[in-house]
Amino acid sequence: MRLDTITALVTGGASGLGAATAEAFVAAGAKVVITDLPSSPGADTAAALGPGARFVPADITDPDSLATPLDAACESGQLRAVVHCAGRGGDRLRILDKAGKPAALDSYRQVLEVNLVGTYNVLRLGAAAMAGNTLDDGDRGAIVLTASAAAFEGQIGQTSYSASKGGVHAMTLVAARDLASWQIRVNTIAPGTFDTPMLARLREDIRESIAETIPHPKRLGHAADYADLALSVVRNPYLNGETIRLDGALRMGPR
Ligand SMILES: NC(=O)c1ccc[n+]([C@@H]2O[C@H](COP(=O)([O-])OP(=O)(O)OC[C@H]3O[C@@H](n4cnc5c(N)ncnc54)[C@H](O)[C@@H]3O)[C@@H](O)[C@H]2O)c1
Repeated sequence: MRLDTITALVTGGASGLGAATAEAFVAAGAKVVITDLPSSPGADTAAALGPGARFVPADITDPDSLATPLDAACESGQLRAVVHCAGRGGDRLRILDKAGKPAALDSYRQVLEVNLVGTYNVLRLGAAAMAGNTLDDGDRGAIVLTASAAAFEGQIGQTSYSASKGGVHAMTLVAARDLASWQIRVNTIAPGTFDTPMLARLREDIRESIAETIPHPKRLGHAADYADLALSVVRNPYLNGETIRLDGALRMGPR
């Protein structure tokens, strides 16, 4: 798929992996609609990218709210790519605390609501918005979801986050099969540990020790590494139904 004639919707585009992806789409000549929470710095992110980008706030878990950026992306031209980066970290709760008390169920639900239900909402409404497109290089559109290495090797305290990201991985092949008759491809990127605001809440020494565990290159991922892959996935007409790890060969240990 050519990128210089399309519009891309980037969720979570105010920050981190999404902001880098929006920047890369603009650099490739695409128009971009960034969506993120109203409280996010999405307006500043879009303004910094120039006239090719605009910010339309939404909560990805809310169908009515998400319709607004999708409508804006369809108005801007050919909505042919949705890169879904909006998400949240886990609750860092063990199943039982030190006193044997079970973790709060609501906390688990909240992580699943944003990362798993939110992803399905973006997937279904994004696909509906692209289903009426004409074929371009055999596709009506391409959707890129975001899982995590924690989908495969969740660490202690990551039950909610791993379950949410494991669900994103599990839905990828099904979604590609479901949407094949609409000529819409669905793939997922599973990042390892990336240097974004989500990881910035960790202490510097912890971030350095994480970088040490990565075989090669021995550093946290750059958001631009993710963006580069996201654009390749959108461009490549034969890539479908796949979860691609992007992690410098990292395999996370139990803690
Ligand atoms: N940074 C990492 O190391 C890493 C590793 C693996 C997976 N991921 C995943 O990559 C994605 C992007 O992470 P990031 O590191 O760029 O984080 P980030 O915190 O920088 O960006 C996430 C964005 O999602 C937005 N968001 C959260 N809930 C939302 C909602 N309900 N509606 C709309 N927007 C919402 C936030 O406002 C934020 O701008 C997430 O799904 C995250 O789980 C990140």
